[in-house]
Amino acid sequence: MPHVQLAGLKKAYGSHVALQDISLDIERGHFFTLLGPSGCGKTTLLRAIAGFHRQDQGDILLEGQSISHLNANERDVGMVFQDYAVFPHLSVFDNVAFGLVQKKLSRSEIQQRVSDILATVQLESYAQRMPHQLSGGQQQRVGLARALVIRPKVLLMDEPLSNLDAKLRVDLRRDIRALQQRLGITTLYVTHDQEEALSLSDQICVMHNGVVQQVGSPWDIYQAPANRFVATFVGSNNFFDIDRRADGQSYLLGQAIDGHLPDDRLMRPGIGASVRPEKIKVNASLQGPGIQIAGRIRQSMFSGRELQLTVEVEGYGVVDALVSPSVDNVNLHLNDAVQLSIASADLQYFEPGETGARIP
Ligand SMILES: Nc1ncnc2c1ncn2[C@@H]1O[C@H](COP(=O)(O)OP(=O)(O)OP(=O)(O)O)[C@@H](O)[C@H]1O
Ligand SMILES: [Mg+2]
Repeated sequence: MPHVQLAGLKKAYGSHVALQDISLDIERGHFFTLLGPSGCGKTTLLRAIAGFHRQDQGDILLEGQSISHLNANERDVGMVFQDYAVFPHLSVFDNVAFGLVQKKLSRSEIQQRVSDILATVQLESYAQRMPHQLSGGQQQRVGLARALVIRPKVLLMDEPLSNLDAKLRVDLRRDIRALQQRLGITTLYVTHDQEEALSLSDQICVMHNGVVQQVGSPWDIYQAPANRFVATFVGSNNFFDIDRRADGQSYLLGQAIDGHLPDDRLMRPGIGASVRPEKIKVNASLQGPGIQIAGRIRQSMFSGRELQLTVEVEGYGVVDALVSPSVDNVNLHLNDAVQLSIASADLQYFEPGETGARIP
């Protein structure tokens, strides 16, 4: 049985539908991420699970039991917010103890549980500090300790890292994942950062306009996006239109697509093709069928581990390629002519429209 089940959730704010028929199963102990652009309904969904507001339709089940009728404090879930939400007038200890005091636990038990959880989030020597004496990362650890100290069945986190600087974000990301795995706690995590979602999650749910676009492992979402929206939102992708010419063949960027492609399905108007930047070869030959495109370097950015090339293709626009730096390519300059090669197997095809399905 899934640990958490969402069954047909709907939520509207006036005439604006924020969640349209969301059904999801979340396995016990999984790190499950809701990923999508601003306004797609991530916070609305998390707050419905936490019990801060009620859905208009549908049910939320924890361990097979409906929790929809319960108040937030009766639901056995802990929540961490984007803006820390620590009480400024309470010490770290008292912030973390807050939920336990409300539950009227004994002083000694509160002392023990708060000390344990502060050690878990590596804040044991900060118990008597006030929030304003902490860094953003430390405040967020207080938020995490406060959510975990009540020993919730499910941990909900709404963009907990987005107010932190880049370096701290990556450090704390690693700590959160390690802690989640150690505690084995089922976690629902919200982010609009695709890299964060890919690196943290067991499962990702990509959302757009209140609708689930795809649920899958990070690998599935990246390698086999369900539709154009997922292909565009997760990682980067070059999209091409396909034309059919008088000779009856399909062409991409003015080049004949190799005959191995499922031509009949590509003949319909509006079908698009995509390729990931890292799949494009620059001045290197292909093994097997594919296409070649001539272009000129418009920008070259070397970042140590990789080289990002922006290539202008006449009559089309720009194509992004990501290659391993080598003596042959790091010295490419503005306007240098290059040959791009794409293996047929690395092209993906999509139905028309923003959420057009991938053609398998
Ligand atoms: N209290 C509210 N009243 C009216 N509309 C709301 C309310 N809360 C959210 N919305 C709208 O519902 C939609 C979903 O909002 P939500 O906060 O869930 O998005 P989100 O995915 O969390 O976005 P972000 O990444 O910016 O936090 C948005 O269009 C938003 O404007
Ligand atoms: Mg939000």
